[in-house]
Amino acid sequence: MRVADVEDFWEDAIRASAALRACERNGLTLSLASETDPPPPTTHRLGPVSVAEEGRHCPDALLMPEALTEHGGRLMARAWVDTSVEYMRTGKSAAQAYAPGTEACPEELFSALLWLHDRGAREAVVKLGIRKAGVSRILLSPKLDEVRAAVTDDDVLCWSAIPDAAPPSGFLVQEWVPMTHEYRFFVVDGVLVTGAGCVEEFTPLDHRRVDGRFDAAMREWRGNGINGGSPSPVMRMPQRVSRYVEFLAPIAEGLPHGQRTVVIDVATSAQSGDPLIVEFNALPNAGLYATDADVLFENLVHAGDRGYQVNLL
Ligand SMILES: Nc1ncnc2c1ncn2[C@@H]1O[C@H](COP(=O)(O)OP(=O)(O)OP(=O)(O)O)[C@@H](O)[C@H]1O
Ligand SMILES: [Mg+2]
Repeated sequence: MRVADVEDFWEDAIRASAALRACERNGLTLSLASETDPPPPTTHRLGPVSVAEEGRHCPDALLMPEALTEHGGRLMARAWVDTSVEYMRTGKSAAQAYAPGTEACPEELFSALLWLHDRGAREAVVKLGIRKAGVSRILLSPKLDEVRAAVTDDDVLCWSAIPDAAPPSGFLVQEWVPMTHEYRFFVVDGVLVTGAGCVEEFTPLDHRRVDGRFDAAMREWRGNGINGGSPSPVMRMPQRVSRYVEFLAPIAEGLPHGQRTVVIDVATSAQSGDPLIVEFNALPNAGLYATDADVLFENLVHAGDRGYQVNLL
């Protein structure tokens, strides 16, 4: 078998074996669900069932949940492309009428980007509202034409600003804030059950048991197109992990019904030095990195909130 990404293969194998062990320990039956015959809502679902869930782990509801807005450490808002008949007929978008000093972020995409610039942001991160369809970093400007060009010239976003193609779920626009030491927590029923640094090449086989449930390995710069640079060396940072747990545990405890079993990435703001939430993801496909998969599945087979919002996927 050829697999595009070796850890993708390991991840699936690890999920399946950890799920099997958890079921055996708890006297539960593990069965493979069919796509055409979805499992009853009373079952504990431990992995993706339909193709719609594969590799698409960010349902709309988790794009900008309240906890992300509150603890994201950066300005952010949802925005949409103007698809009104008026705009298509005249080419006059709401953005042309954007007035500096506007208090609330406008819902129209280009106005929202002008608003971010107005608030002091010089670069933005724009994420498509369709799960995992792409995220880009663009330069901001006080000029509508330049902001529009930044979006339409961007390899990822170019198509999305065409009214006919624009995603109905819109975008998440954020101020770009450099962030370091990204770390992923798996939350089950509002409790942090396991976690690991966002180290792309790691799987639970790299988990160090001496660290307990929260693996201490992480890297300063994840190294991607958004935060720039290349991946820094992996280091063991137990104190930073403790700081993250201290930051996130009370937030996780207060999450609303339907968001209590989720995956939350945290990082440190390179500007303020404080922890922040990078993003929320749903459970089915969020990469495990060097988490303790047995701890995760032991918790999942007992979870009240299953972490699957099928109607939202
Ligand atoms: N506002 C921001 N400012 C600076 N960097 C950001 C910002 N938002 C995201 N990033 C960086 O971009 C990466 C990808 O963003 P995010 O995790 O929100 O999207 P994603 O669709 O899940 O992408 P990926 O699958 O690569 O994680 C983050 O891990 C982080 O390094
Ligand atoms: Mg991510």
